Amino acid sequence: MNTVIDSAIVDELLATAAAARQQAYAPYSRYQVGAAVLADDGRIYAGANVENVSYGLTVCAERVAVFKAVTAGANKLLAVAVATENGGSPCGACRQVLVEFARDIPVWLVDGAGHRRETTLYRLLPDHFGPEHLVK
Ligand code: THU
Repeated sequence: MNTVIDSAIVDELLATAAAARQQAYAPYSRYQVGAAVLADDGRIYAGANVENVSYGLTVCAERVAVFKAVTAGANKLLAVAVATENGGSPCGACRQVLVEFARDIPVWLVDGAGHRRETTLYRLLPDHFGPEHLVK
């Protein structure tokens, strides 16, 4: 079951993702992404994509945000927001990383005009590989 997130917190999460987008380092794709995760310590952790001239070393905004939360000691995530110009959705790699630290949490996608779309992590990554698959 999903916890309902207070609407003021949702607003803050989306605003944090949109603000983080401004910190993107994306000189190659020019596609700036901001992400924010709400962790069970009550804090919001932000990230932006950081590209590299070698391309393959680029790290997505979502993973930056998740890794910031986890390395601050908060490894249970309650909600995610992703901000892009056109409402883009998290890539497959980021979905798998989010699933590591979350259940079927709400995911908000917000575009440059402020339009929001709400989905959930398990809708984005159904039938995913999880720790139960490693248990004999
Ligand atoms: N990107 C993200 O930050 N998150 C995603 O989920 C999709 C893609 C970034 C990576 C790269 O810097 C740019 O968007 C274009 O792919």
